[in-house]
Amino acid sequence: MALSFFSKSHQGVLARCRDDYATKMRLKYAPYYHAMESQHGTIVQLDGREMIMLSSNDYLGLTFHPKVIAAGQAAMLKWGTSTTGARISNGSRAYHVELEERLAAFLGTEACHVHAAGYLSCMAATSTFAQKGDVVFADKNIHSCLWDGLRLSLATVERFSHNNPDELRAVIAATHSSAAKLLVLEGVYSMEGHVARLREFAEIAAENGCFTVLDDAHGFGVLGRQGRGTVDHFGLNGKIDLICGSMSKSLASTGGFVAASREVIEYLRSHSKQTIFSAAVSPSQAACAQASLEVMQTEPEHLERLWANTRKYRAILKNLRLDTWESETPAVPIVLGSKERAFLFWRALREKGVFTVLSIAPAVPPGKDLIRTAVSASHTDAQLDLVGEAMAYALKKL
Ligand SMILES: Cc1ncc(COP(=O)(O)O)c(C=O)c1O
Repeated sequence: MALSFFSKSHQGVLARCRDDYATKMRLKYAPYYHAMESQHGTIVQLDGREMIMLSSNDYLGLTFHPKVIAAGQAAMLKWGTSTTGARISNGSRAYHVELEERLAAFLGTEACHVHAAGYLSCMAATSTFAQKGDVVFADKNIHSCLWDGLRLSLATVERFSHNNPDELRAVIAATHSSAAKLLVLEGVYSMEGHVARLREFAEIAAENGCFTVLDDAHGFGVLGRQGRGTVDHFGLNGKIDLICGSMSKSLASTGGFVAASREVIEYLRSHSKQTIFSAAVSPSQAACAQASLEVMQTEPEHLERLWANTRKYRAILKNLRLDTWESETPAVPIVLGSKERAFLFWRALREKGVFTVLSIAPAVPPGKDLIRTAVSASHTDAQLDLVGEAMAYALKKL
């Protein structure tokens, strides 16, 4: 009986994989998982052709910075390729502690913990601090990793409409509960390019005793003094309980961080499964992030260039009357409104040598099918002009 049950469910999963509609469509139209043959800065080679990368999160353009590359190489020579263990057991090294201290100092928090992926950090930020019986108020457009953490936490989740403090107030007022409360937001929403209305949200959180979790994966390096992020941009330093984020964007590495007071970080180290049971950040990963953090503080030209490029790019798109969903940051969606239009636009850009990412419902709200683009400090003026020409061509293909 057990055997027949096992073989039946095994067959069921295989059939599910074979018949899956989303997978069939992905393989048919092939918009994802393109393996580029080479890269230098914003130029990648795909299918033998050079293309301008217009959708990476290398906001400050540091992935090819000589100091960042040298730091990664040196760390690997000194520490080997991996610690092959979790921080709690055999995987802690002096370079982890140093990176955490530097990140905490930069963000103005007492402490910090780094993980091998931003996804782990942000998932830990919600799963660890919310628990069954708590009420979590969450912007409905937060990233998948925050939702995953919330699901694991078993807390009650109340969503409010995107970036809408008035609705948050109404949802809190309608929730008659003396339970512990959390508020979960992003600093910059990566798909929309919107900056959180953090001043209002912080006020509501303070009035209602909410523990606030802010995922600043796309605000870090982009907003605030020297790229300190969304909290610093609004002058709210010390007013947000926890900032989490990724090292795979402005920090030109991989990994993530959770920054908060010492007692919050020590609690994370005791209770977060993602922290306890996952291997530590590798030497080169940590060294690249730390070198980028230093470049952010000593070479302001990258942040300046990022914003100059963002202004130029936005002017190009405005001229073409493209709908950018009121993006305020270097992450700029181009909303096409249907899967078909988004696909045609994406394909025409590709034909013209511009690499972007197609994002369609249910990954975005219905009617908001879009291509996601992002500006980097390392785009040249000439590249942005070429992008403009490609966009004009793609528009004619709709
Ligand atoms: C808002 C947000 N949080 C977290 C992550 C996860 O970061 P990572 O890609 O470093 O795992 C991402 C990545 O896309 C993100 O956009």
